[in-house]
Amino acid sequence: MDKQTKYRELFLMLQSLLEGETDEICAMANLAAAIQERFSFLWTGFYRVVDGQLVLGPFQGPVACTRIPYGKGVCGTAWKEDRTIVVPDVEKFPGHIRCSSAAVSEIVVPVHSRNCPDAASRPVKAVLDIDSTDLAAFGEVDAEWLEKIAELL
Ligand code: SME
Repeated sequence: MDKQTKYRELFLMLQSLLEGETDEICAMANLAAAIQERFSFLWTGFYRVVDGQLVLGPFQGPVACTRIPYGKGVCGTAWKEDRTIVVPDVEKFPGHIRCSSAAVSEIVVPVHSRNCPDAASRPVKAVLDIDSTDLAAFGEVDAEWLEKIAELL
């Protein structure tokens, strides 16, 4: 099965799984588990914006760094710049924060708050972070689908 099909099926499943769920942590927990089950990445999880920094949220995979400052690492940069960041080789991302020596490539997608009337200026409330043991595991297809998935929260 190709990646597009896998993501399409995953998205449909997540849509019904998360429908009506108002607790953010509950939704993040199932979302991380579902992505991980589908793709068997090294690590899939969330960092939530709490008191001006990113704090480790629901995840699947090895234990991870607990707090990441604004603008630091891939996660803090994705938050600061409010954009998806694809890192084909973590060794080449200045300031990358290493949580696991097995992580070789990474994608980080901002998750926006829904509680803002102006859709264009919704603040980042969390980031979805995925690590792989393969070089260049993530690309445009992953970015496109993971951004759609992040909108479910
Ligand atoms: N590599 C991330 C830190 C989080 S872990 O990958 C789970 C970063 O540079 O922000």
